[in-house]
Amino acid sequence: ALPNDPEGYAPTAGSDVVVVTSGMPRKPGMSREDLIGVNAKIVKSVVDQALKYSPNAYFIIISNPMDAMTFLTLKDTKLPRNRILGQGGMLDSSRFRYFLAQALTKAGYPATPADVDGMVIGGHGDTTMIPLVSKATVNGVPVSQFASKKKLDEAVANTMVGGATLTKLIGTSAWYAPGAAASMMVESILHDQKKIVPCCCYLEGEYGQNDICIGVPAVIGRKGIEKIVKLDLTKEEAAKFEASAAAVRKTNQVLHEIKAL
Ligand code: LAC
Repeated sequence: ALPNDPEGYAPTAGSDVVVVTSGMPRKPGMSREDLIGVNAKIVKSVVDQALKYSPNAYFIIISNPMDAMTFLTLKDTKLPRNRILGQGGMLDSSRFRYFLAQALTKAGYPATPADVDGMVIGGHGDTTMIPLVSKATVNGVPVSQFASKKKLDEAVANTMVGGATLTKLIGTSAWYAPGAAASMMVESILHDQKKIVPCCCYLEGEYGQNDICIGVPAVIGRKGIEKIVKLDLTKEEAAKFEASAAAVRKTNQVLHEIKAL
């Protein structure tokens, strides 16, 4: 660190993408939302300094509670919404595919996560994420043709608490899958891959929501969030999305209460 750069951000100058993982991790028994007070301060300070050195950077926010930290970054930096991406959906989707593959295997149709396609949208919280069973497929066929509703419900429930389960097992937050998901997002930006992935995006009317950052499928390319993709949700999924948005909004409200915004 240099005297005029006490925190040592100078070596990051001119970055194309900044991945923000800073903050306190979860301890067993904690929710992601429990971290908001400590992490709001940390994320704000990291983002402000990183932006000073990399004024053109795209930001990928991973710190929890991720949807609120993404919202905070957007409001704090006032950057256009295509430059602020939150990562949770890819991670949650990979857990969903894992548990779906297990459910299919138990039902007598051995499958690996690579055979399965499935997406998680909504908030990145134990009660706010929405694994989309209606859209999940195994080698192109709806999973409901092979596994019972009970088994699929189990896969959904396990997905939703996947992060908490890992935290209990390893004593701190997961890092491997979040790291893998973040690196895929970085590559999609840097190489303009235009991957369609669930991503925490600022919504302006999409999915019936405004002024909120929450997980929806998006095209990620050299301009960050290049397009928010519309999905035809079932009535039940749309209701879940609305409830998820209400919960994320409540967490965002805490940002005002603690004067982070
Ligand atoms: C998880 C944390 C990092 O879901 O949010 O593993």
